[in-house]
Amino acid sequence: MSVFIITPILVIIIILLLTIILLGIFFTIDTFLDLPYVATKRDKIETIIKLAQIKPKETVVDLGSGDGRLIFAAARAGAHAIGYEINPFLILLTQIKAILFHPRGESSSHLGGVFVKRQNLWKADLSIADVIFVYGRKKTMQKFEDFAYKKAKKGTRIVVNTNRFPNKKPLKSNNGIFLYRA
Ligand SMILES: C[S@@+](CC[C@H](N)C(=O)[O-])C[C@H]1O[C@@H](n2cnc3c(N)ncnc32)[C@H](O)[C@@H]1O
Repeated sequence: MSVFIITPILVIIIILLLTIILLGIFFTIDTFLDLPYVATKRDKIETIIKLAQIKPKETVVDLGSGDGRLIFAAARAGAHAIGYEINPFLILLTQIKAILFHPRGESSSHLGGVFVKRQNLWKADLSIADVIFVYGRKKTMQKFEDFAYKKAKKGTRIVVNTNRFPNKKPLKSNNGIFLYRA
């Protein structure tokens, strides 16, 4: 077989192998987290932004920001949006999206109003947040409730996706999204 046939076949095999390895690492990291990656659906993003009532220049913190879709939506609403994320692949994806789409057309050094921190969300500084986004499993909601109500300043809006806080009454709810106030 000529080298002109073998080379592209080898390149395709190497790309496939690399993809499989990278996906393997992604899912291995995800399996060991008590909060796996599940992305918020588009219609829920709209509800979250509506319920959050973000005002320009407010600080929004997403606890486990995934591919960054909520922090980009918050930035488009005028917020300074900070995501805490531990999965390096999702951080990279957020950074790529920021460079490609620049929600506010600003410098890529601060990703157009969006920051993603490679940091454990349980160490997030909630005292600076005007709005907090939470999307956790049912079994982690007690921990999120304690964390948010202990660390956030009084009056912070907390917007919770899907699984509600076990001991607090939401001020509003719509489309499986719950709004609380610390
Ligand atoms: C349910 S997903 C939510 C993603 C995003 N907020 C959204 O709504 O599309 C939870 C995210 O939290 C991240 N995560 C899990 N444990 C974490 C931790 N201890 N610190 C930071 N991020 C974490 C996961 O990698 C995942 O991306």
